[in-house]
Amino acid sequence: MLILIDDANLEDVAAIWSTLPVDGVTTNPTILARQHRDPLRTLRELRELLGAGPQLHAQVVGTEPDVMVNEALALRGELGEDLFVKIPVTEAGYVAMRRLSAQGVNVTATAIHAPMQAFLAAKAGARYVAPYINRLDNLGADGVRVAAEIQTLLDVHRMDTQLLAASFKNSQQITELAKLGAGAVTAAPAVLRNLFRNATTDAAVAEQRADLESVIGAGHTFA
Ligand code: E4P
Repeated sequence: MLILIDDANLEDVAAIWSTLPVDGVTTNPTILARQHRDPLRTLRELRELLGAGPQLHAQVVGTEPDVMVNEALALRGELGEDLFVKIPVTEAGYVAMRRLSAQGVNVTATAIHAPMQAFLAAKAGARYVAPYINRLDNLGADGVRVAAEIQTLLDVHRMDTQLLAASFKNSQQITELAKLGAGAVTAAPAVLRNLFRNATTDAAVAEQRADLESVIGAGHTFA
């Protein structure tokens, strides 16, 4: 399962990128707007930070198919052919997805809130389908269950498209997606850190260190 960083703050992304075994970055227009600077410059710098290979996802903002396609091609021109262009699952979005995937553009279908939205996106050629787990939970639905239904549809119909679960607010939601066999998840740095942070782990390590220091002296290590 790929783990992606759902953020565009260069410092925060760099901190996670240099620490955890993660596979790339996803952005959306809101995440880019939060940086209060030229969004294209931010995307270029993210591309530079990641280097060639790791995934970068960027979303179009147009609402008409022609505009979406032009945006996607422009973003790809700026950020490289391996860019994943996020297209929302609107009526216009499906038109754009079909046209872009036919041209070999990597499409990530986004803003998914129902299994059949994902199924149609997969048929339209999307490489990834991104259900919004936490937003579904906030609507009184069950985000993990929707993701599970999407995974079932992809498996039963033997589609190449992968699940890229998004919109997480806690590490347990990510654990559930990992158990489902999701192809990828994307989450903010704070949520990703909660995958490993554990006060009891820290306490155990501190106790063991203190025990050994009582023999070899405070501040000493094996090095
Ligand atoms: C994915 O890339 C989505 O844009 C993102 O996860 C949405 O998350 P939010 O619900 O925290 O805005």
